[in-house]
Amino acid sequence: MTVTSVAQHFPPTVADSRVVAWVESIAAITEPDRIHWCDGTPGERSRLIDQMVSTGTLIPLNPLKRPGSYLARSHPDDVARVESRTFICSHDQADAGPTNNWVDPRDMRETLTELFTCSMRGRTMYVVPFSMGPVGSPLSRVGVQVTDSPYVVVSTGTMTRMGTAALEQIGPDTDWVPAVHSVGAPLAPGEPDSPWPCNPTKYIVHYPEDREIWSYGSAYGGNAILAKKAFALRIASAMGRDQGWIAAHMLLLKVTNPRGRVFHVAAAFPSACGKTNFAMLQPQLPDWTVETIGDDIAWLAPGHDGRLRAINPEAGFFGVAPGTGATTNPVAVDMLDHDVIFTNVALTDDGDVWWEGLTDTPPAHLTDWQGRDWTPNSTTPAAHPNSRFTVAAAQCPTIADTWDDPAGVPVDAIIFGGRRATNVPLVTQSTSWEHGVYLGATLASERTAAAEGTVGELRRDPFAMLPFSGIHMADYWAHWLSVGERLAAHGPTPAIFQVNWFRKGPDGAFLWPGFTENARVLEWIIKRVDGSAAYRETALGRAPVDGSINYAAAGVTRTAWEGLFATNREQLLAEAEDTSAFLQSYGPAVPEAITAQHEALIARLHDLPH
Ligand code: OXD
Ligand code: MN
Repeated sequence: MTVTSVAQHFPPTVADSRVVAWVESIAAITEPDRIHWCDGTPGERSRLIDQMVSTGTLIPLNPLKRPGSYLARSHPDDVARVESRTFICSHDQADAGPTNNWVDPRDMRETLTELFTCSMRGRTMYVVPFSMGPVGSPLSRVGVQVTDSPYVVVSTGTMTRMGTAALEQIGPDTDWVPAVHSVGAPLAPGEPDSPWPCNPTKYIVHYPEDREIWSYGSAYGGNAILAKKAFALRIASAMGRDQGWIAAHMLLLKVTNPRGRVFHVAAAFPSACGKTNFAMLQPQLPDWTVETIGDDIAWLAPGHDGRLRAINPEAGFFGVAPGTGATTNPVAVDMLDHDVIFTNVALTDDGDVWWEGLTDTPPAHLTDWQGRDWTPNSTTPAAHPNSRFTVAAAQCPTIADTWDDPAGVPVDAIIFGGRRATNVPLVTQSTSWEHGVYLGATLASERTAAAEGTVGELRRDPFAMLPFSGIHMADYWAHWLSVGERLAAHGPTPAIFQVNWFRKGPDGAFLWPGFTENARVLEWIIKRVDGSAAYRETALGRAPVDGSINYAAAGVTRTAWEGLFATNREQLLAEAEDTSAFLQSYGPAVPEAITAQHEALIARLHDLPH
């Protein structure tokens, strides 16, 4: 194959010659009919949307109910990230660690070249330049994705700063991340297209040393919008380790206390722990304000002043729709009023959308996510459990004015949360950065119906990064420790906390109401940062003293409050044993400081009363 077979195209004059050469090299393999360089303009977006409406990929929603909004229905076999088909192809298998699928990069390149050969025939290859983080910020990084999916182009246009301004960032000396994506469904001349082309064979492949991503066969979410999980977490965790910053699977909040002092909080939660709800939390506490900076990913970097600074590298939210309703997340419900692309939710008879949890009572008739009639008597959900909304962050009613500050925001507190019926208290503060990194490293959550495996079973999800670390997980912990050392050389490090909204009492009922009331815990966290809340030392960390959280106002009884902090020696020791096995499974790469924290915890647990 020679470059002369490349479809005629007109790269923008601002395009760096390396980008042009790379685009042509991919076109030589994939043989698209056309190449389109995306400029990121609203006109381009609306042309792509019109085209997708005409092919049936997008269904326009009723403009009186949901202006500027569309529904996409995916292929029923292409509905979620596929972790089993996600690969970290480092040169040395040890660098991918025991939690990632690994294939030798030479073998993987051979496999992929074969798969991508002619994979875009009959289609347009879109060249999608994007910036993760505000264009031109020293904390931002750039990438270029080629894709044969207009749905992915439009989604990336919402989720990132996409178009000419990003392309202009790439000069002859700029590092940029190339990402190649094909749905793997070439069209023969005259062959009709399907609304959601994809391929049963799927590969989501990362080359961490080469900072390169290749994805084949899926158009869904993180499999295809490569700027998100593939770049901003997997490739970025390798970049960050080498460059001294951290890619974190964390939301970002701006909190203002009644005196007008501003604090910033980053928080990691495994899936199904209400991360988006917490990112849009609206406290009912007088004079406290919580605003949103990010709902999923944070890039953290020590600043010139020695403080940890954070940006949300994304520009939009790709959130799970089910469970988003007026009581759980009224902010999101408002945010989704207009200009949203919904995927795999249900359609109402008057051209609006619905999903489980949007309202208490479902409509009497719906068209489900697969286009079938649905009534409340149906035995399957109307919306797919992983159905999504894609919406611009700027559209969020609680977005902070600083959410896209190129300088980022200083981080005061870091939170790790999981879904735990037992053992983990409502909130504790770590006693040191090392203890905090230990809490993140050993983070676990109970499986819910949304994840594979037995419901209720404990699943370790260190730093909520299990499927998202592009490096050995224990190296990721070591990197957190080394960033902490750098920060400590200048002053205090951010305070680290563990929270658990999901503790249950002996009767199986939740002890804490959650949702809006979580603001009371956030208030205590902020007051720990400014030193105004008292604590007591416990085996598990610093816990609120009586009276420092007004649990009665949250409707929590004294007995329930005590249950939220109860320590059962035997149960905690059994969990610590499980933690020992978990740490051992990471081999010798586990940092000594983590092992020391673990041993210290076991010693404290042995001292608990029987
Ligand atoms: C997500 C995830 O979709 O973490 O954000 O799975
Ligand atoms: Mn996520």
